[in-house]
Amino acid sequence: MAIEGPVAIILAAGQGKRMNSDRAKVLHEVCGRSMISYVVDAARGAGARTIIVVVGYAADQLYAALDGEPDIRFAVQDKQLGTGHAVKVCRPLLEGYDGPIMVLVGDEPLLRPEPLADLFERQRKEGAPCLLGTAEVDDPTGFGRILRDSAGRFLRIVEERDCSPEERAIREVNPSCYVFDAPALWSSLDQIGTSNAQGEYYLTDAPEQLLRAGGKVLALNVLSADDILGVNTRQHLAQAGAIMQARIQDHWMTEGVSIVDPGNTYIDGRAKIGRDTLIHPFSVITGVVTIGERCKIGPFAHIRSGTTLADDVEVGSFVDVNRSTLDSGTIARHLAYLGDAKVGRDVNIGGGAITANFDGERKHPTTIGDGARVGANAVLVAPVQVGANAVIGAGAVVPRGEVPAGTTVAGVPAKPLKPAAD
Ligand code: UD1
Ligand code: CA
Repeated sequence: MAIEGPVAIILAAGQGKRMNSDRAKVLHEVCGRSMISYVVDAARGAGARTIIVVVGYAADQLYAALDGEPDIRFAVQDKQLGTGHAVKVCRPLLEGYDGPIMVLVGDEPLLRPEPLADLFERQRKEGAPCLLGTAEVDDPTGFGRILRDSAGRFLRIVEERDCSPEERAIREVNPSCYVFDAPALWSSLDQIGTSNAQGEYYLTDAPEQLLRAGGKVLALNVLSADDILGVNTRQHLAQAGAIMQARIQDHWMTEGVSIVDPGNTYIDGRAKIGRDTLIHPFSVITGVVTIGERCKIGPFAHIRSGTTLADDVEVGSFVDVNRSTLDSGTIARHLAYLGDAKVGRDVNIGGGAITANFDGERKHPTTIGDGARVGANAVLVAPVQVGANAVIGAGAVVPRGEVPAGTTVAGVPAKPLKPAAD
């Protein structure tokens, strides 16, 4: 099948030893999503139509994590002989493709699509065989440094290990965001060697090689320090998480969500939140969650994956909602647990009420009809169906089965107090 361009290659074969983990480094999560999924999104957002992920360490984990994404292909690098070698193993997949190839690394989850799109665009306009994005940072430790001549023209990238003391002081760094013209990339990779401190094939030698061969190579300072944070340790992972969390919250605030105390709120990268929703401190929203408009969340609410709150829902203090749907106007203001529940409109869930959804082996659903009232400390032993406008007394334990619409039940086990109104 012909390759659809532009192409992006994402390097992800390394183990990431300093993570001290059995998991492939790029699968560690930032705000609920794997690092590599952000890089994939950035590449897509920049316009890449085909994405090749270079895998090696824990390859099976990567196949599983990126399974079913039609634009992603995998290239296997059995031995991690360096970033240049990692790109080279993609060549057989790209036979016959002669368009632009962006190369990124999978451990920079904060990359944003906009500057990468600029790089594609500039490479096309300039017709340059190679273009690279750079960033200026306060602390360049760990990065390759960008060397320029006295006129500011790009000369080469020097790895930190290979730097002289003067080069070490340079604060313009290589974040590993390149765009190459395919034929130029392959020819330069054929010519680079391994005479460096690590004895590896360095992709960073390719731009210099192309420059020496007479090609135009531009280093453009288009990335910000935040964009290029590379994750090598758990400490870096936490730093990336904090920056990503600020971006997520900034996005939702721009969309009209009020967040009272951003530093004490956590919102997963996959959550969606409607306008004029108000989130009080110490609320945690994890996984794929959809929250409607004008909802009130927290303080101390935990809203978990698979949950949908319609408009005007209140989920208050110490309420845990998991894999549940709450229809509009429904209120669970304090100390409740709703798991695998489908709750109708204008339902009131009393303080301390819970769905007992797990029988020790399996999870079971609870449905609660429109207008029902579930009393304080009630336990609904799932599977339970509570009909519309039914009332569950405080402290009732409702056994598996049905509470008919309009009835009031109370006690342990719960029994009808009065029949449905006629
Ligand atoms: C690389 C760059 C450096 C840059 C830095 C941050 C080189 C030689 N150096 O250094 O200039 O500042 O990234 O962007 O390229 N990988 C493979 N196969 C390999 C080696 C690495 O897939 O054989 C992958 C790793 O999994 C990782 C990425 O490439 O995702 C970067 O490798 P890493 O070892 O972290 O490179 P750095 O030393 O950080
Ligand atoms: Ca790195």
